Amino acid sequence: TFPKQVRLVEVGPRDGLQNEAEPIDTATKLELIDRLGAAGIRTIEAASFVSPKWVPQMADHREVMTGLARRDGVTYTALTPNLKGLEAALECGVEEVAVFGAASEAFSQKNINCSVAESLTRFEPVLARARDAGVRVRGYVSCVLGCPYEGEIAPVKVADVSRALYEMGCYEISLGDTIGTGTPLKAKRMIDAVARDIPMVKLAAHFHDTYGQALANLYAVLEQGIGVVDSSVAGLGGCPYAKGASGNVASEDVVYLLNGLGIDTGIDLDALAATGTWITQTIGRPNRSKVGVALAAK
Ligand code: HMG
Ligand code: MG
Repeated sequence: TFPKQVRLVEVGPRDGLQNEAEPIDTATKLELIDRLGAAGIRTIEAASFVSPKWVPQMADHREVMTGLARRDGVTYTALTPNLKGLEAALECGVEEVAVFGAASEAFSQKNINCSVAESLTRFEPVLARARDAGVRVRGYVSCVLGCPYEGEIAPVKVADVSRALYEMGCYEISLGDTIGTGTPLKAKRMIDAVARDIPMVKLAAHFHDTYGQALANLYAVLEQGIGVVDSSVAGLGGCPYAKGASGNVASEDVVYLLNGLGIDTGIDLDALAATGTWITQTIGRPNRSKVGVALAAK
């Protein structure tokens, strides 16, 4: 059955922008974050405390995190893959962070330069330090419906890594279809496997739309009771070096879908769509939200 309410986690400022080759002004990022908050988004992933050599676009993480005009009721989060990242994020007053692992060995190596087992060992002190600081930690699992290097990923692999992160103390597990190859039946089977060990309310769907399946996949897992959805305004994201790759499912499209289902999000769709129009014009990217394009043409 569908949940009564869904919480959107807006990942545009991080997942959406991290692959942009041209530097984007910190001021633009801050305005984007502020507009998203004004539109009623309650959780915004604002920055990523990773190595600037690995992800140059996120190099201004400190400026972003300390420059935020914090709004009541909005949580601003950041990725922190290790203690170094966490300490920097704590100095900037972060309230919630995320560690990110993978269900695929090859992807783990490429993304964070260590094996899945090593990543879990590395996350333990991050969780412990965050707990001491009173900061919540979210756990991401990438490649839950396929890997660019290994292809098919067994649901049991996803369930194992998810359980390890949950038992370590992650309050929520975000399941990432990193390359958007999933389809609804596959997505349901994956959720079934993970939800054997972790309560459904602790799971989030993080679907990318590369193959145009993200909304269909979301509908399928919402029906299973998933109540947290990661999305990115205007469907921002995608690697400029990987032709055809696209970003997260567009936030506007998710809100439109949920409105149609009578599921409450507390988000102002017009304000969100205007934000999508503004940011895509500002950074010179196509608006990949169909709802956003349709509303802008009205
Ligand atoms: P490493 O090279 O193994 O780490 O990288 P290291 O500890 O040996 O450090 C190497 C250098 O990085 C050192 O600098 C460190 O100081 C520096 P040097 O001495 O060479 O000048 N460094 C850092 N600098 C800033 N902040 C830090 C930090 N840590 C080390 N936190 C590391 C390991 C994890 C750091 C690296 O692999 C990395 O930064 N990876 C980031 C990858 C990334 O951000 N990927 C995108 C996010 S994940 C994603 O998008 C998927 C998701 O959306 C879900 C989905 O869709 O599936 C979440
Ligand atoms: Mg992602």
